[in-house]
Amino acid sequence: MHGSASTTLFLLLEKQPELLQAAQNIVFMRAVGSAGLTELGKQRLQCVQSFKPLYDQLQALGLPTTTALQGTFDAALYLPTKHRDENLTNFAALVEALNPEGKIICSMANDTGAARFEKCLGRLLGHIESFSKHHCRVFWGSRTSQLDQCLLAEWSALNTAKPIEDSNYLGRPGIFGFEKIDRGSRLLLETLPRSLPGAGADLGAGYGYVAGEILKHVADVRALTLYEAEKLALDLAAQNLGAITTSTELSFEWRDVANEEIEQRYDWIVCNPPFHTGKARVPELGRRFIRTAGALLHHHGKLFLVANAQLPYESELRSIFSECRVAARRDGYSVFHCVK
Ligand SMILES: C[S@@+](CC[C@H](N)C(=O)[O-])C[C@H]1O[C@@H](n2cnc3c(N)ncnc32)[C@H](O)[C@@H]1O
Repeated sequence: MHGSASTTLFLLLEKQPELLQAAQNIVFMRAVGSAGLTELGKQRLQCVQSFKPLYDQLQALGLPTTTALQGTFDAALYLPTKHRDENLTNFAALVEALNPEGKIICSMANDTGAARFEKCLGRLLGHIESFSKHHCRVFWGSRTSQLDQCLLAEWSALNTAKPIEDSNYLGRPGIFGFEKIDRGSRLLLETLPRSLPGAGADLGAGYGYVAGEILKHVADVRALTLYEAEKLALDLAAQNLGAITTSTELSFEWRDVANEEIEQRYDWIVCNPPFHTGKARVPELGRRFIRTAGALLHHHGKLFLVANAQLPYESELRSIFSECRVAARRDGYSVFHCVK
């Protein structure tokens, strides 16, 4: 999805180079590595990317990359996501970071709500232009005196951590499942033993729900490491777990579980793996998590995994683990308990 949004963005910049000609410094929010990006010039570009796999790609291209927006800019590029609140808060943050007359240019796939978000940005800026190609829409405008300050304040205020449903866990726009506790994760927790001795890991830990509930309800956990690629989520996990009284040794790892080499080894692993990249379903991502879990477990180590029941994971699990059984199947989810 991001591939074509990014291609369409650079197509526009090629057709209308004057849009960025005067810009001495440019920020690119939720940037994705591409050849067009390096052509913009490393000296004037600042990429912002808090998702580790994409952050690593930008680093590999030698592009200056941070995990959070900082500073002021003459122009801002943004690849909005499918999440409304994240996009509105990023529109507000980017417009606030623009110098007067600075431009914000966004690109997104039509089927992720591009027309709707173009209207939103138009309301904020008072004026908007757009270009469509490859089922994507690029829309842009400038920070002028027409800026709607009330809307700016309203959207900035969305960018805060809030309790999820009626739980004690904080969520925020930009992370998985920030509006509700995941039903698959709930089912996984129901099946866990009362005691899990030794050191464990949560692969794809999000804002820390599964790990937090383990701390509260499972005995004998000596150490627990949370692995998560989205830094916004991992930071919240540290905050959420920091509020729980525990003697378990905790660590938080901002890592790409699907691609990075991980040295540590564990007695058990819990996992609710991702299977989407943007809007696209990518079951291979979940299979990679399963292979990583297999590699990280000691001999006889245990994996507790939940997945959408339709996903084709069972044969992967059976090929890696000596024992594998379905511990629960409900509401469209399956929980597997496996032994290496
Ligand atoms: C289905 S969610 C589960 C989140 C959490 N366990 C919960 O129950 O709310 C999967 C998580 O994996 C994370 N993720 C996606 N790709 C990843 C990767 N390559 N490495 C590590 N984590 C990743 C996502 O950001 C998301 O938080």
